[in-house]
Amino acid sequence: MTDFRNSKYKVNPLILNRHSPRAMNGEDITKEQLMTIFEAGRFAPSAYNGQPWKFLFSFKKGKDWDLFFEPLIDFNKSWVINGSVLVVITSDQFLFDRKSETNQFDAGASWQNMALQAYDMGLVIHGMSGFDYNKIRSNLDIPESYDVLAMFVVGKPASKDVLPKDLQEKEVISDRKDLLEIFIEGKFK
Ligand SMILES: Cc1cc2nc3c(=O)[nH]c(=O)nc-3n(C[C@H](O)[C@H](O)[C@H](O)COP(=O)(O)O)c2cc1C
Repeated sequence: MTDFRNSKYKVNPLILNRHSPRAMNGEDITKEQLMTIFEAGRFAPSAYNGQPWKFLFSFKKGKDWDLFFEPLIDFNKSWVINGSVLVVITSDQFLFDRKSETNQFDAGASWQNMALQAYDMGLVIHGMSGFDYNKIRSNLDIPESYDVLAMFVVGKPASKDVLPKDLQEKEVISDRKDLLEIFIEGKFK
């Protein structure tokens, strides 16, 4: 496999190459594929193994699809329409009846496990914060004690030609900040 990105130090190609396309072909993924992705999320580490996450999902053909889809901003609607499953990531603010400092961090680890798993299966998976958080909360009856963190879409890949011109231009592999800009030995600077 040709690497999409370059790294100075050799990291696992799955981590290096995972990326977030928007081009999807509108076909459904199978329940088996979805559960495989979810299984990867389930095995993420979390503080005290508290597993504070809950993931709400709907297939496009599901009766609740509109409740998930409508709160998306128009930009996201324009390409998510060709996805197969929408997922909302939530996490419990409380662990053992105490305020949790890590619920969001833990849920993020679970999301990344799923992103890597889906990419490894040749599927598109794409995280989103472009949606109305209050609307999603009320549409899906998410209690106040749970944080609504993000959404993601899963679908089958397609050629970028299926996207409108402006989105085709965005269908590129992104780079990252330099290692030494973000990893600091010692005190913050
Ligand atoms: C929490 C989160 C929210 C995001 N929100 C959106 C979004 O609303 N719309 C979108 O098109 N991409 C969204 N993205 C995708 C990011 O822009 C993308 O992950 C980032 O540019 C890095 O590119 P890569 O995933 O291809 O490596 C989101 C990603 C994450 C993790």
